[in-house]
Amino acid sequence: MAKEPDSRRLDEALNIFDLERLASESLTKMAYDYYRSGAHDELTLRENRRAWERIALRHRVLVDVSTRDASTELLGHRLTMPIMVAPTAFHGLACEAGELATARAAGRARTIMILSTLSTTAVEEVVATAAGPVWFQLYVYKDREVTRGLVQRAEAAGCEALVVTVDAPLLGVRERDVRNGFGLPEGMRVQNLLPAGMGELPPRARESGLATYFFELVDTSLSFADIGWLASITKLPVLVKGVVRGDDARRAVDSGAAGIVVSNHGGRQLDTSVATADVLAEVVAAVAADVPVLVDGGVRRGTDVLKAVALGARAVLVGRAVLWGLAAAGEDGALHALELLRQELDVAMALCGCPTIADITADLVAR
Ligand code: GLV
Repeated sequence: MAKEPDSRRLDEALNIFDLERLASESLTKMAYDYYRSGAHDELTLRENRRAWERIALRHRVLVDVSTRDASTELLGHRLTMPIMVAPTAFHGLACEAGELATARAAGRARTIMILSTLSTTAVEEVVATAAGPVWFQLYVYKDREVTRGLVQRAEAAGCEALVVTVDAPLLGVRERDVRNGFGLPEGMRVQNLLPAGMGELPPRARESGLATYFFELVDTSLSFADIGWLASITKLPVLVKGVVRGDDARRAVDSGAAGIVVSNHGGRQLDTSVATADVLAEVVAAVAADVPVLVDGGVRRGTDVLKAVALGARAVLVGRAVLWGLAAAGEDGALHALELLRQELDVAMALCGCPTIADITADLVAR
């Protein structure tokens, strides 16, 4: 089980990499491997990070940056920074309070949390606890009535958008999970699917229990027409997550998507898939005039956030960074991760001559 959070350790964490080190000391091997792993050779996992590192900044000088404002607007929400909490599964593995801790941290940071379908806390409880907006990440189950039920629950609970993941008809092969026979500890369940009888991962075996769960339950037939179907069964905006091509982004928007998340699932699905930083501009060119474009994958520094915004993203999503904080020190740790990135972004804005988000333009990026 996850250890009790200890906020004193946070003083040691000057950056997200430090937080990961702390997290690795408190997580079980199975949980740490699950969170950190990428698919197969983990090339995309590494490339996501390297692609941000490869981008150099051409900073402006002699701009009055004595006051700075990183706030931005996204689908009717005012965010204090262009950094949101990405959907990641099973926060109960990271700390006792699980997604409740994440929701409180996101609220304290005054940003949006995207809750995973695969949470260890029910959506109603998370939204009731959250001090800020919660969006719901959706996996489309083969059983469309189960899917419809999930959408209705998320909406009734008060979630303010749906984020449908489209890069996972099957789960990518994370060999660490296969080796560990990944499963949930006794008593931990996929709470949102309990009423449908789909709350249990298969018992530990010589494989990943999550991969088996996906294989049995998640819809491999999902197509663009289903984006229209989803939009037709909910009042909520539907964002499409997992896109790495301009043409797919265009078709998603033409099918009813209210936003696009450029993502390769943190390198956990198709290994050798392109790094998100490398395709962001293409997707922005295809659809950003119509809908907001978000991006995730490898964001660990405030300069990464600034680069993403310069390339046209409205905001970035951070998944592992928040998980490391959560594992290191629960709610305070997750908040620490978000605040580290906020502070780093603030410094980057000052040093790039950008008092506001609108000043972060494409010319700052030298490729
Ligand atoms: C779940 O979405 C995962 O990537 O493990």
